[in-house]
Amino acid sequence: MNKDQRYIIGFQDVHKSFEENHVLQGLNLSIFEGETLVILGRSGCGKSVTLKILLGLIYPDVGQVFVDGEEITQVPEKRMFSIRQKFGMLFQGSALFDSMKVKDNVAFALHEHTKKSEKEIIDIVKRNLEFVDLAGTEELMPSELSGGMRKRVALARAMAYQPKIMLYDEPTTGLDPITATTINALIRKTQRELGVTSIVVTHELESGFSVANRVAVISEGKIIEIGSIDEIKNSQNEFVKTFIAGPK
Ligand SMILES: Nc1ncnc2c1ncn2[C@@H]1O[C@H](COP(=O)(O)OP(=O)(O)OP(=O)(O)O)[C@@H](O)[C@H]1O
Ligand SMILES: [Mg+2]
Repeated sequence: MNKDQRYIIGFQDVHKSFEENHVLQGLNLSIFEGETLVILGRSGCGKSVTLKILLGLIYPDVGQVFVDGEEITQVPEKRMFSIRQKFGMLFQGSALFDSMKVKDNVAFALHEHTKKSEKEIIDIVKRNLEFVDLAGTEELMPSELSGGMRKRVALARAMAYQPKIMLYDEPTTGLDPITATTINALIRKTQRELGVTSIVVTHELESGFSVANRVAVISEGKIIEIGSIDEIKNSQNEFVKTFIAGPK
């Protein structure tokens, strides 16, 4: 990354507990505009919680979080609502609305939050479905789609609003290797063609390495290592070494 690049997201000494469970224990992390940062960590280490804090769905107990130059932990809910619109989120699972056609799933945020005409919305839906290689699926129901197709519809929906920042929560978990490769290629295409900043959280190493510009590793509520893929692969940190080596 070029050193002149600006940070678009920052976590400073963020702590979050759920009763006795001290999940985040002083998380510090900065993300450059336009990069894809992958956060690796074991199941339950706080990856999804970290993304939910960015969306203002969970508030930290201590610390500060900055998005696009603004401290989000201090803003009123109404302002948080606007800040949330900078983000597109691909949820763990796909979280499609099962009773809605593909086109209505993709158009959902546009109907809810914009004054775009029906014709503009139809065009955006078409464009986004083409982007994820699902042209012509507008009239299908989610139940008629494979797991990989559902993920792609969810991605088209997350991007419909033209977010500056995309958050991907375990985008390839539970998918077969070929479908996972397709989703990883789409994550790279989204960065390359739309210039979005992306955060991908995953416990799947190969998937993370295939999309990352930088990788951060969480353990015991903190970022214990951050750097390029090579730096992470050559890390001398014992936890990182064990994590990379995988189960014996
Ligand atoms: N709303 C909540 N209330 C209570 N505990 C929670 C809540 N959300 C998360 N936790 C707890 O916080 C910890 C971290 O959860 P999180 O979902 O962030 O894990 P994760 O790193 O995303 O794991 P996975 O890889 O399995 O998705 C877990 O112990 C979880 O039980
Ligand atoms: Mg999670």
